[in-house]
Amino acid sequence: MVRRWQSIISQLFLITGMAVLYNPVYAKDNQIDASNNQPTSLSEQRRAELKDLLLQDCGSCHGMTLKGGLGPALTPDVLHNKSRQMITVTITEGRPGTPMPPWKTILSEQEIHWLVETLYSGVTP
Ligand code: HEC
Repeated sequence: MVRRWQSIISQLFLITGMAVLYNPVYAKDNQIDASNNQPTSLSEQRRAELKDLLLQDCGSCHGMTLKGGLGPALTPDVLHNKSRQMITVTITEGRPGTPMPPWKTILSEQEIHWLVETLYSGVTP
């Protein structure tokens, strides 16, 4: 009898877990396209939102044109001799002990990847 309850309860957990996992509200937009193993592209709307984020949020510290402020410049000429990996880690994890915050709680890996590529090629306001 006890075993039966245990099994019912664990099944309930499994079902709620799956529901959370497959709920689009919680799903981050970071599926991989099986055909070429590349992240599926972000929607045009999401890219526009991310560009706003770069200019407004990142811009509030890095300068409205990203040429530097409280934080260093994030322009292609400055970034081109810095490694993409270091830049990606900095955006993902932030820089503890400095005002640079981590972004992994609100952005997916794919979105951060897009931000990095956009910074290296230059953000036009
Ligand atoms: C609250 C202020 C603040 C915000 C907001 C902020 N940053 Fe920063 N960021 C900093 C500071 C300060 C540093 C320098 C940290 C240090 O001293 O190492 C930094 C460093 C960085 C670096 C490393 C640059 C280098 O040359 O090593 C990158 C990349 C970066 N930020 C990207 C971003 C992006 C992208 C955003 C927006 C998604 C953002 N930051 C938002 C303050 C901020």
